[in-house]
Amino acid sequence: MNNNIIELLIIEIDEELKKSILNYSGYIPDNLYDGMLYSCFGGGKRIRPLLFLLSCQAFGLDRKEYLRIAASIELIHSYSLVHDDLPGMDNDLIRRGKASVHNKFGQGMAILIGDALLNCAYETLFQFSKDYNQYIAIASYISKKAGAIGMIGGQVKDIQGLIPQNIEQILEIYDGKTCALFEAAIVSPAICLNFPSVKFFKIERFSNIVGKIFQINDDFLDYHHKSEKINIIKIIGEDNTNILFNDLKKELYILAEQLNLNDSLMWKFIRKLLNI
Ligand code: IPE
Ligand code: IPE
Ligand code: MG
Ligand code: MG
Repeated sequence: MNNNIIELLIIEIDEELKKSILNYSGYIPDNLYDGMLYSCFGGGKRIRPLLFLLSCQAFGLDRKEYLRIAASIELIHSYSLVHDDLPGMDNDLIRRGKASVHNKFGQGMAILIGDALLNCAYETLFQFSKDYNQYIAIASYISKKAGAIGMIGGQVKDIQGLIPQNIEQILEIYDGKTCALFEAAIVSPAICLNFPSVKFFKIERFSNIVGKIFQINDDFLDYHHKSEKINIIKIIGEDNTNILFNDLKKELYILAEQLNLNDSLMWKFIRKLLNI
């Protein structure tokens, strides 16, 4: 795994993210500006924008032309976490070992900071869409995945308070709240490339499985922390979760082979990320 390249990509992502927010310096209320920076530069691992840039590289696009999209995806992720921690949602006071945004800035401000980050994401995308036609198609795909049919729909199912009863119901929640943004990240580069639909759907399934395994790993970590969250291991048990994990892993390896990703840095990064 070439850590130097990953570190370089993180620097590029951070620079682009800063540009998006620093644009507002002097034009917006101080606590809004501080809150946007606080939530975006609080120790996030940048997994989704990294996947996006690595996917650009894997499918032969010049990533430098698409850095704005990487920043937009992270802005959407940041907003989703600010809202996710709100008292009306998961009611979490701590995020990444520090006060969550509503804990530090107040509830009303956290709603508005989240809203501002989401709008900043689209502003960032659309600023460049006049230069790159593909940006519009990608922006449309990302907005679908981030919206009611994707991440927000999954968040709704997650907070409804209905305990899922079987694997299908749990995975339906994960498809929305976690997989949708992984799909936005990994599939977006393919949108520019007019792949035949069979290949496109394989990339979509590939990215969906990455999201599912990521969330199952997250559930394994939470399982030992006695949290109240919906957790696949609590619902179907450790053995069944391991069976599902291995089935998903097998399918992911087959798809990586079929998509010719075996030698790509993206595939190396994913295997390390998911511990597979
Ligand atoms: C947290 O995602 C939300 C989940 C879907 C589990 P990350 O673990 O990628 O969050 P940060 O940005 O690195 O903190
Ligand atoms: C967060 O999921 C998913 C989104 C913000 C879309 P969780 O609520 O399970 O993740 P953490 O534990 O707060 O990071
Ligand atoms: Mg949540
Ligand atoms: Mg949460």
